Amino acid sequence: MSRELSLAEIFQLGYYWETKILLTGVKLDVFSALDGRPKTAGEVAGRIGAHEPTLSLLLNALVAMKLMNHAENRYGNSSIAEKHLVRNSPQYIGHLLMLHDAEWNNWGRLEETIRTGERSVDRHVFETDPELGGNVLAVLDRIGKQSGPEFAKRLQLNGQVRMLDLGGGAGTNAIAFCHVYPELTATVFDLPATLRLTEKTVKEAGLESRIALRAGNFNQDGLGGPYDVVLMSDILHYQTFESNEALVGKVFAHLAPGGRLIIKDRFLDEAGTGPAWTTAFAVHILVNTQQGGCFKTAEAMRWMSKAGFTAVTELEKTAVVQGVKA
Ligand SMILES: C[S@@+](CC[C@H](N)C(=O)[O-])C[C@H]1O[C@@H](n2cnc3c(N)ncnc32)[C@H](O)[C@@H]1O
Repeated sequence: MSRELSLAEIFQLGYYWETKILLTGVKLDVFSALDGRPKTAGEVAGRIGAHEPTLSLLLNALVAMKLMNHAENRYGNSSIAEKHLVRNSPQYIGHLLMLHDAEWNNWGRLEETIRTGERSVDRHVFETDPELGGNVLAVLDRIGKQSGPEFAKRLQLNGQVRMLDLGGGAGTNAIAFCHVYPELTATVFDLPATLRLTEKTVKEAGLESRIALRAGNFNQDGLGGPYDVVLMSDILHYQTFESNEALVGKVFAHLAPGGRLIIKDRFLDEAGTGPAWTTAFAVHILVNTQQGGCFKTAEAMRWMSKAGFTAVTELEKTAVVQGVKA
């Protein structure tokens, strides 16, 4: 049995001040303003266009949060902030934090959403701000690069596999699979706007001859093929139960006999109370999307069985399920 929370931990859970201080610091780009050498609050205010005495309060809190240091009346970035929060750093992750900031007002409507059951947004922020969407995908691509090859290896593919990476985003998985399996060729299917980024990442990886890009809406357009492997990674939680069921059925028709569908997502367990991160993610999807949701592993497995897949298996708990087209 896990232990009870302490009162201090309950207070900590309800305490979001530091979150908003960090997000605002990133939005104002104070870390980039400090790039290179420590500066006074006045110099930073001049660079970002802010009110100096007010900005000092924010900077002081960022010092206390260990994201900055302060000496001789000058502020400087801590080494972790310099690496990840300065815009021209190759390891900048600020776009992901700016996505949280862009969703801030939606969270303010959570109470109303829970009372009425009505969603408060009619479009995801990626649709209202495609540039932010592209930048966030680029950050996720950089993070995903670390785990992609291990995931590819665990699937133990063989030979000249034709893979479809459906809603493949920046092509993170397709690229990782090509690196792990030298004979594999892939198609990344995604919306035209997203494929502009994919074109860049595929080119940077030198894989233009093995990765094709196919633009379209996977709910409406043909998917090409036939394929030996279709991967659906992190696409289902933006859609309804019914669209997902239909999409899994559609994928079945685009697979060659013996082909497999692999769904990698953030599934809830049977009770819906775990994994912990996913239970909070389900609320995030509720307030920030028009119709998305987190589904249970068993629901994804039922979509597969209904579509005609056999040997439907949960390969990784609440993370990866697979079905085979016999
Ligand atoms: C969270 S990203 C996942 C990207 C990638 N599969 C991964 O695991 O890193 C969701 C992707 O689905 C794409 N997408 C969303 N709706 C789509 C649709 N109707 N048709 C095609 N792609 C879509 C988005 O453009 C985005 O690239």
